[in-house]
Amino acid sequence: MTLTRTLPGLLLIGSLAVIYPGTAAANPTQQVDALEALFGTHPGFRRGQAKGLCATGYFTGTEDGKALSTATAFNGDSHPVLARFSVGGGNPAATDQSRSARGLALKMTLPDREQWQMGNISAPLYFIAKPEHFAPFLEVRTPDPDTGEVDQEALAAFNEAHPETLRQAQWLGAQPIGGSYAGYTYWGVNAFRLTDADGTEQYVRWSFTPQQDISAPDESALGELGDDFLAEDLAERLQDGPVHFDFHLQLATDDNSLVDPTTIWPDSNPSVLAGKLTIEASSTGKGGNCDRMMFNPLALPEGVAASDDPVLHARPAAYGVSFGRRVSGE
Ligand code: HEM
Repeated sequence: MTLTRTLPGLLLIGSLAVIYPGTAAANPTQQVDALEALFGTHPGFRRGQAKGLCATGYFTGTEDGKALSTATAFNGDSHPVLARFSVGGGNPAATDQSRSARGLALKMTLPDREQWQMGNISAPLYFIAKPEHFAPFLEVRTPDPDTGEVDQEALAAFNEAHPETLRQAQWLGAQPIGGSYAGYTYWGVNAFRLTDADGTEQYVRWSFTPQQDISAPDESALGELGDDFLAEDLAERLQDGPVHFDFHLQLATDDNSLVDPTTIWPDSNPSVLAGKLTIEASSTGKGGNCDRMMFNPLALPEGVAASDDPVLHARPAAYGVSFGRRVSGE
């Protein structure tokens, strides 16, 4: 697939022109360049959520999910899932003791050649409200190559102009560092629109909550776990049987923003148990089925549609740039 950026906000995918709302100043090449400048270039690896592993399992929808969306994901059958668990940032050698968001990306294979792909993180909010803030957010945190120093004045000015970009780090800072990929809750963060059999529409955000009771390790004991405990933990756990996550749909109310992923929807919103994700097997590190693919959060089945969140719409183009670089060995 060729992605060509022409006029601001107009993306050509092959011969199909798509206008993405609000992405006028967001440039996917600049976004991926900014990731490389901050985290280094690591040939063959994803430029975001670089450290990770591939896993397989299945998803089974519930009647309550089916009542909200015509997507075949909710038809009661079990649908094969390819999953990727990851550690935040663009460094494939990042320590599992870092406070970054963990990722859970999924590709669900559905009847009639449909797919449902998603990329979820272990935080209910993202660090930018607008795609054009992605590269500047990283750039002001990147040390000057000559001095090795971050420009503190520029950083302070950016933070003051965009206080919402600090919310995710604040939220993550208040959470313990987990000892297991199977112990995190993963949120879709962006809003999506579901359509039911009568054509009624409902905006939602989704999350996957772990069904195994895994408490986070004591911070003082974390050091003894080393840097790569997450992959080891999952492989060992899966030897004893699958791990499970509940798939919840949080229903939007009039008070919620449908377009700003730096906001958290309150727990008081109605929520529906719409499915169950079962993970049965994992493979460590690079070299698995997740390498030569990307998880496109706009690859959605009928019955699930994107909201107008501009951050959501900016994602596939940036993922495409990263994908193109890593599969060509860059
Ligand atoms: C403008 C906004 C964003 C940009 C520029 C961006 C950029 C990237 C890039 C370049 C990658 C690597 C893709 C690949 O090589 O396959 C990536 C992966 C990922 N991103 Fe984003 N991202 C954005 C928003 C988000 C949001 C809002 C979420 C949270 C829901 C998110 C979650 C993830 C996850 C989970 C992965 C790993 C996917 C995998 O395992 O293949 N991203 N992102």
